[in-house]
Amino acid sequence: MSAILSKLPQTGTTIFTVMSALAQQVGAINLSQGFPDFNTSPELIKLVNAAMKKGHNQYAPMAGVAQLREQIAAKTEKLYGAAYDPDTEITITAGGTQAIFTAITAVVNPNDEVIIFEPAFDCYAPAIKLMGGVVKSLELEPPDYRIPWNMVKRLINNRTRMIILNTPHNPTATILRKEDIDELSAIVKNQDILILSDEVYEHLIFDGETHQSMARYAHLREKSFVVASFGKPFHATGWKVGYCMAPAYLMNEFRKVHQFLVFSVNAPIQYAIAEYLKNESTYLSLPAFFQEKRDHFRTGLEQTRFKLLPCSGSYFQSVTYNDITDEKDSDFSLRLTKDFGVAVIPTSAFYNRGTDHHVLRFCFAKRQETLDKAVERLLRV
Ligand SMILES: Cc1ncc(COP(=O)(O)O)c(C=O)c1O
Repeated sequence: MSAILSKLPQTGTTIFTVMSALAQQVGAINLSQGFPDFNTSPELIKLVNAAMKKGHNQYAPMAGVAQLREQIAAKTEKLYGAAYDPDTEITITAGGTQAIFTAITAVVNPNDEVIIFEPAFDCYAPAIKLMGGVVKSLELEPPDYRIPWNMVKRLINNRTRMIILNTPHNPTATILRKEDIDELSAIVKNQDILILSDEVYEHLIFDGETHQSMARYAHLREKSFVVASFGKPFHATGWKVGYCMAPAYLMNEFRKVHQFLVFSVNAPIQYAIAEYLKNESTYLSLPAFFQEKRDHFRTGLEQTRFKLLPCSGSYFQSVTYNDITDEKDSDFSLRLTKDFGVAVIPTSAFYNRGTDHHVLRFCFAKRQETLDKAVERLLRV
């Protein structure tokens, strides 16, 4: 057997897979991995069925079904005032993950530096490394996890190729605000730096806050890949359909990679979502829908010994637990899962160095009875 030189020697199984498997094994309530325990809309399922019956079961066009790209362009113009050309600036992808991988692959060359902020979603760094890029990470700290823009400035040099942002943010549930946009704008002005903006939770934003999409700002839009997913808003994470928007000069490179990575994406689901998006309440209702869950869960957690961190967006609630134990967050997560029957994610898993601020992440995209049952168990901790 010949020895294989691993391209990702440090990479093991993701924490999400590990915790979900453990939850199943011990019969714990799974608030670890980010997916709903309720079904997607019956209307959307009917539309998928109808698309299949109509015969939309062969390859979709490489860039995605035209009707869907047109609906996305219309929605983006309505929400963010940005006119993306559906023919040249929008591509349907197999979820946000593929869009992220494709964008990085398309523009990051060996030795290019890419700035990421930790805690970071797990797919950014491996994609950068596979392209021979260099990950420059900045660690953010609880309770507010704000980006220290003065430190970002210090990281910039002529090898900086890209900055990856994520708003609303997984795992911390923070959002970028206008002040962040101003700082970012000053940093990238007159610089050859691209932005990859992971906005898969764009519709999960609370308390009347504004989603600061890169699409809103012409000077940022022209440097940005904006990534979105239909899995999060439409409670269908298993469908793995999302999209990327970028100016034509970037999208052109994106599609060169996309066509050899997946070529095209699940056809009937694209036709169905194109129909579904015609009714804007399908996405405009989401902030209220998830805010109710957030508030219900937070009210429950307030009765426990966990301490709540702020939650402005996404479907995650973070807590600290210094009144309970000084265990490492990874050990405590295992104990919570095995002994108390609630599976969570330790936030240290989102730091390359495993930095442990004693913070746990719960997913509240669950039925009320699931959240109540979890709180009941957490009251015993
Ligand atoms: C921040 C973030 N980006 C991207 C993704 C991936 O999205 P998708 O499931 O559409 O690939 C996720 C999924 O959990 C996420 O949390």
